[in-house]
Amino acid sequence: MTTLPYTFRQEILNIKPYVPGKPIDEVKRELGLTDIIKMASNENPLGPSPKAKQAIVEAVEKLHIYPDGYCFELRRAVAEKVQVDDNQLIFGNGSDEIIKLLAETFLQPGDQVLTGSPSFSEYDYATHLMGGEMVKIPLKNNRFPLEKIAESISSKTKLIFICNPNNPTGTCVSAEEVDRFIAQVPDSVVVIFDEAYNEYVEDENYPDTLKYIKDGKKNVIVLRTFSKIYALASLRIGYGVASPDLIALVSRTREPFNVNSMAQFAAVAALQDREHLELSRKVNSKGKTFLYQAFEDMNLNYIPTEANFIMVDTGKDSKLLFQKMLRKGVIVRTGDIFGMDTYLRVTIGTMEQNQRFIKALKECLEEM
Ligand SMILES: Cc1ncc(COP(=O)(O)O)c(C=O)c1O
Repeated sequence: MTTLPYTFRQEILNIKPYVPGKPIDEVKRELGLTDIIKMASNENPLGPSPKAKQAIVEAVEKLHIYPDGYCFELRRAVAEKVQVDDNQLIFGNGSDEIIKLLAETFLQPGDQVLTGSPSFSEYDYATHLMGGEMVKIPLKNNRFPLEKIAESISSKTKLIFICNPNNPTGTCVSAEEVDRFIAQVPDSVVVIFDEAYNEYVEDENYPDTLKYIKDGKKNVIVLRTFSKIYALASLRIGYGVASPDLIALVSRTREPFNVNSMAQFAAVAALQDREHLELSRKVNSKGKTFLYQAFEDMNLNYIPTEANFIMVDTGKDSKLLFQKMLRKGVIVRTGDIFGMDTYLRVTIGTMEQNQRFIKALKECLEEM
């Protein structure tokens, strides 16, 4: 780095820039393509509920008014949905923001954070932002290694992030495993269950982590988002569920108007549209079956998923393959950013998108 005329917090040098899915418009500009599909950021290919879109149209008239910092209507709707009290919720500018607020609340320089690897990169960002030390424990059979994580807890451990289903593997830990894990974690360590993809899960052994909170545990927080199945990613809204004490503490670090009003209105409307939710689930489930079959026909190994994305082992350099796929107008994610160099992570799309993805993948692999 060039010499700078000011001093700054050296901790931030540990932050690696986030690698986002390549935006459609960027590919259009760079490659001069017009017909592009993005299957890179685990977005819902159906888009938001028509009810959510209508709510935004109506809310446009109130753009000059500050948003409700308490998210009153949304708080009520989510409290009803997850069956907790109003004071057990915190809303964020995406669940990303809540991850950051948790780090700001709990981490001093040198404090330790535990998670599995590979997993969601925002845990690293938030930890390093506060000068914390990230301890990553390799996944076991592509699943979060809860036993190893529990064994790794030390007096320096402050936070544990459990991504369930895990991004990027799509795998889940079971209710029994989580029960055993929670029994081993001291109350002084806060456990964060990041359940961004929970609505897609089909596995019957998926844990009901809210039960720990309802049973009075003060060191558990569950994060959910409206970015994935509810398809409101661009509005940035997510929430956390925890004990009133934990919520009150973390809320001290929250900015007063962190969730915009479009997001609040749209999220309330989205929650009311059960049909759209069910349709989104169905499209994902069907797409998953289609892609599994296609991978099997191509003799490609994949990691069975409980989310809306699949890691597939193409046996080729994922960066080269990614570039080739781009030229065919298909944006996916390379596995190298997760240390899985021959894998692609593909978001399950509409059937038309899935078919186009498989066609492009076959053509590219033949060329390589
Ligand atoms: C596991 C996981 N948690 C959280 C998020 C962030 O979601 P949000 O859009 O609510 O910030 C993502 C987004 O990709 C994710 O994969």
